[in-house]
Amino acid sequence: MNTITTPILDNVYYLGVNDRQTAKFENMWPLPEGVAYNSYLIVDEKTALMDTVKVTKIDGFLETLVNLLDGRKLDYLVIHHMEPDHSGCIKAVLELYPDMTFVCNAKAKGMLMDYYELEPENIIVVKDGDELELGERSLTFVNTPMVHWPESMVSYEKKDKILFSQDIFGGFGTLNGTVFDDEMNYKFLRDETRRYYSNIVGKYSKMAVRALDKVSKLDINIICPVHGLVWRKNPKQIIEEYTKWANQVPEDGLVLVYGSMYGNTEQMADTLARFLAEEGVKNIKVFDVSKTHESYILSEIWRYKGLILGSCTYNNSVYPKMYNLLHILEMNKLQNKVMGIFGSYGWSGGSVKDISEFASAGSFQVAETVVESKGTMKAKDVEELRKLAKEMAELLKA
Ligand code: FEO
Repeated sequence: MNTITTPILDNVYYLGVNDRQTAKFENMWPLPEGVAYNSYLIVDEKTALMDTVKVTKIDGFLETLVNLLDGRKLDYLVIHHMEPDHSGCIKAVLELYPDMTFVCNAKAKGMLMDYYELEPENIIVVKDGDELELGERSLTFVNTPMVHWPESMVSYEKKDKILFSQDIFGGFGTLNGTVFDDEMNYKFLRDETRRYYSNIVGKYSKMAVRALDKVSKLDINIICPVHGLVWRKNPKQIIEEYTKWANQVPEDGLVLVYGSMYGNTEQMADTLARFLAEEGVKNIKVFDVSKTHESYILSEIWRYKGLILGSCTYNNSVYPKMYNLLHILEMNKLQNKVMGIFGSYGWSGGSVKDISEFASAGSFQVAETVVESKGTMKAKDVEELRKLAKEMAELLKA
């Protein structure tokens, strides 16, 4: 197989692969635009490979690695993160280069045994701030626990100010020829990048804020993450985006999600959305929880300040599809949200009670009026929805 090489700088190479075959990331989050797994190689007095790729993409990856090394041996394999989308080829790399030395932190060392039954003799276990000399270049390691796993760390190459950032600053979406930020319009990937952040990293936002704080103290010219674009023109842009998402700084707007079996709750949702528009709320997004995957709903909820949840009642409880969304939102510890609640029932309630309990357990600012309709929407329900819309608009403006 002939493979091309993509230099980032002299003797620093991108070795990424595009995955358009995997349907769902972590077998859960849809990948209609695919995903890229990025790895990097430094060729200096010593050679160092930064992470590998998912094992399903092993063939092209190993071929590129061997071509780039051009007969030289691999001295170091640096493991920043052990999730198998990046560690999947380490056994194969070890078979090719049995004398190489693993470089990782203590937590990753334990995971080498847990995931690959590897207890390498050649291993350097690094701590926060440790440095690895490669020749002209060197790598300094910075632990970033829980972004995304406990062993996660980044490394900083000080000669050219390159940050190898593992999952941090990553996104969904393959790199369709455009590897670098200056080769494409980022708007094209922004939604997929935010969806990645909210789906994968969002629940660890507190730790992400800490990691970003550590990273922001470095003078960075180039960011090389393990998913998404390599940022060489404007790394500040992705640092700002991630900082905003990690701090859950909301944009103006509102997401209304409903679950409906026979259209009664849906009619309430549409009525409420109209009243919100009349109250001046811009950027209203309405989702049917049975139709749109929670991956996309979560990403939009992450973005906007307002959240309204409405559900029909199913077996005396909230609708199961809404229950699933509530569970995902609960895991993600949403902050800085204004929330509204409505629902319907046939003979005994349950949905509004369940959503209200979810809201009380979180840190939402909840609108006082909660609308619960029996059967079809009646005139009094319409008036209550109007009241809820007004309260939401006021809370959003506050
Ligand atoms: Fe891309 Fe957490 O692995």
